[in-house]
Amino acid sequence: MNIVLVGMQWGDEGKGKVIDILSQKVDYVVRYQGGNNAGHTVVVGAKEYVFHLIPSGILHAGKICCIGNGVVIDPEVLKSELNSLRKNGIDFDKRFKISTLAHLIMPYHKNLDQLRETKRMNKIGTTGRGIGPCYADKINRCGIRMVDLLNRRVFSDKLKDNLKEKNEIFKKVYRHPGFSFQQIYRQYLNYGKLFEPYICNTAVLLNKACNDKSDILLEGAQGTFLDIDFGTYPFVTSSSATSGGACTGTGIPPVKIDKVVGVCKAYTTRVGEGPFPTEFTEGFGKFMRDKGNEFGATTGRPRRCGWFDAVIARESVMLNGITELAIMKMDVLDGIDKIKICVAYKYKNKIIKEFPHDFELLSKAAPVYKEMAGWPNQANKPRSFKELHPNARAYLLELQNLLGAKVSMVSIGSARKATIFI
Ligand code: IMO
Ligand code: MG
Repeated sequence: MNIVLVGMQWGDEGKGKVIDILSQKVDYVVRYQGGNNAGHTVVVGAKEYVFHLIPSGILHAGKICCIGNGVVIDPEVLKSELNSLRKNGIDFDKRFKISTLAHLIMPYHKNLDQLRETKRMNKIGTTGRGIGPCYADKINRCGIRMVDLLNRRVFSDKLKDNLKEKNEIFKKVYRHPGFSFQQIYRQYLNYGKLFEPYICNTAVLLNKACNDKSDILLEGAQGTFLDIDFGTYPFVTSSSATSGGACTGTGIPPVKIDKVVGVCKAYTTRVGEGPFPTEFTEGFGKFMRDKGNEFGATTGRPRRCGWFDAVIARESVMLNGITELAIMKMDVLDGIDKIKICVAYKYKNKIIKEFPHDFELLSKAAPVYKEMAGWPNQANKPRSFKELHPNARAYLLELQNLLGAKVSMVSIGSARKATIFI
């Protein structure tokens, strides 16, 4: 069975934990898009792991973990993640693979990302990791890929060509001194040597795995509303975070995808700029941010928080083909008197039930809420759906009803065991 796992909101839904759990049941775990803008946190016993690039499935012995062609890789970040795995005694040498076709984040991408942000009138609030400029070069057909690091001549030509153009832009537009060929050339060839044992044609590997009836988990980063096409553009990331990206980002054809699981928080959060209809007012927002420890795993920025938005979540079910839901951080809603779910938007006296594409409308729309009764702190942690407080069960059933997909997993804490399977 090949399963795609996607975030249904604006990222940080808790994908890391779900991936960690589902990894136990599959043979391969594959990242298909994004880069080290993602931060997936997994708690194992007393230890917390944060992954930015490597699939968190790597924590499970024997699982083969791939970084697919759709991912953009900052080699320095990859190197340090591999080092930290080694330090923690996790053996990955025979089960970690990198696609030859994955594009590389170059030093100039990171600078460009940050310089562009400072010049922009409408700031996006990017993570500053060079993600956008790297994908732009990929589409512009001047990107440098993993495989290029294994061929000095190809790499040298491509790097020269890039620096010729980019250094002019740096100097003339941004008054930045630009980059030296020799330094990047040497540094990146070293990365190439380091990664060579893992670089391969992952599409061939994965299609063979499909033919052998192995099980594959395809993990998305970011979330549906950060998707370059369907998200709240331009406040999005530069890749296809929706389930379609799982095929183009790995080379596994659509006919071989069996199921799509959607991950969402029991409320909503967003990092960076952009419209967010159900965002809490400042005071309650701060209260919830502290209660849910809503600070970015990548940049440490405080996350904006709001009520569950069923309009975007419903759209997400449709766009991704989601049939099963994992509802995360349900415990953060414990002890709140009245809980709201946004079921529609209202704008100029019109009720809108579908996710609007018009930017002004989305920014100014008022949420239409359905109010549900809250539940007390569930101190002796429930372990099954039946053990949940009746109001918590009613909340989950309402989400299921509004979204038209089945709730199959509920998380009530960061530990692996704080999970209810339905
Ligand atoms: P995970 O995988 C939350 C947001 C950034 C910014 C926008 C564009 O942990 O859910 P980028 O650096 O990608 O060009 O920034 O996207 N963003 C995320 N927000 N979780 C993420 O990943 C994110 N990755 C990017 O905050 O608004
Ligand atoms: Mg994150």
